[in-house]
Amino acid sequence: MVGIALTLALEVAAQFVGLPLARVPIFPEPGVDLRAELRLIGALREDGKVIVGAPERKTIALTFDDGPHPKTTPRLLRELDALDVKASFFVVGKMVDKYPWLARAEVAAGHDVGNHTYDHVNLNNLTEPQIESEYRAANDAIERATGTRPRFCRPPGGRFDSDAIRAAEDEGLWTVLWTDDPGDFARPDPKLLVDRIDRQMKSGGILLLHDGIPQTMDILPQLVKELRSRGYRFVTCSELLAESQRTALDHGGINKRR
Ligand code: NI
Repeated sequence: MVGIALTLALEVAAQFVGLPLARVPIFPEPGVDLRAELRLIGALREDGKVIVGAPERKTIALTFDDGPHPKTTPRLLRELDALDVKASFFVVGKMVDKYPWLARAEVAAGHDVGNHTYDHVNLNNLTEPQIESEYRAANDAIERATGTRPRFCRPPGGRFDSDAIRAAEDEGLWTVLWTDDPGDFARPDPKLLVDRIDRQMKSGGILLLHDGIPQTMDILPQLVKELRSRGYRFVTCSELLAESQRTALDHGGINKRR
């Protein structure tokens, strides 16, 4: 578990000393203090806004990236409503400008709507000012559509460096990563998808899924039922943040813990 975070830290560190690095995949285990590791290598400010799962709570955050899509988002919202699950959508700004009513419907249904950049670009290829303008444009699109400015963002493909985290912070955003990536984007066989989630899922998990993948919608009712039967509760990123801050206070203060 520590190994994963350490690998990540080394990969991020590699960027600072100029080693070639195509990608920083982020699959932190719940419980790995990714914030501390990122701070250690100077990628994060002291109060750094990065969210990872809280392993002491038996919660799962379902997150859906890359929407909204007129063909799939309404069905996904209906499914989540029928299952009585609140989730977090990381939406692409230009899609929100095209389909603002879908972002509005997500907020109206009580889900979190987070920022997944305006153009869904690889942030590692951009300068800090360019990253900020990507995040700002998506924030503006979401605010135009929903009347609310998002609090959370997720770098497309999990590709980020210290510039991306700082740019997010400057736009008032918490960077939300994930702990579990079952690879639904590649549209695997639904059974394989369930098996992967089954193997990986742990308390405090943040599950990366995508809006617009039929297989994901097909397995959703079964997945929710199964995880609930094991005692998991579904939370949004807002709830995850509130819970982690409460836990931090229980442990003697946010600054001490993070
Ligand atoms: Ni994406």
